[in-house]
Amino acid sequence: MERIDKIICSQTGYTRKEVKRILHKKRVEVNNQVIVDSDYKVDIEKDKITIDKEELQIKEYVYLILNKPKGYVSATKDNKDITVLELVPEEYRHRDLFPAGRLDKDTTGLMLITDDGKFAHEILSPKKHVKKSYLVRIDQKMNEKMIEHFKKGVLLKEGVTKPAELEIIDEHTGIITLTEGKYHQIKRMFLKENSIVTELKRIKMGNLSLPKDLKEGFCRECTKEEFNLIKE
Ligand code: URA
Repeated sequence: MERIDKIICSQTGYTRKEVKRILHKKRVEVNNQVIVDSDYKVDIEKDKITIDKEELQIKEYVYLILNKPKGYVSATKDNKDITVLELVPEEYRHRDLFPAGRLDKDTTGLMLITDDGKFAHEILSPKKHVKKSYLVRIDQKMNEKMIEHFKKGVLLKEGVTKPAELEIIDEHTGIITLTEGKYHQIKRMFLKENSIVTELKRIKMGNLSLPKDLKEGFCRECTKEEFNLIKE
């Protein structure tokens, strides 16, 4: 059982003081009964809470999918640049959201934003082998040697990269799939092949592809199906 004011605060972003006022104005009902006391206890599994007759949807965590544009940094705060959190709709801003994994400032595409630390760890830990695929464009020609080298692993200063798949799409583009995410990993892997990455877009995490209808710069909640695809 939890205090009603605490639940409303955490789900709506209202302050304790605001919630107290809402309760006093008799705008809150629990199972169709008006509640005015801030310390009234509810069972979030069973009780139906409404504010102005509208049911409060209680979510322990949220999972947002973002189609990241260039120019945003994957951080919660930054002194210099705008962060991906500024693309999150206002209604979610009161939560402790963070990007689950980093994309470089100039990388675009699929990014997950959540307040569920355990989930983020599960999809990011190299031990869990969740695949991440990127559409990559380079200045030089893609070649079979790159496929071989990436499969074997590339020696970076932190050690050898885990086997990665490269599928050549055309002269300068390919799809690369990794199960880890070292700093600037793809750019550094191609640099070892004397090539510069000119475009990088994440297109898939686990079995979840970047939704076609999600425009760059937009963000929305994952559906149940999408959520399940990530860890599959
Ligand atoms: N590898 C990179 O070099 N940059 C990214 O943003 C992601 C993977």
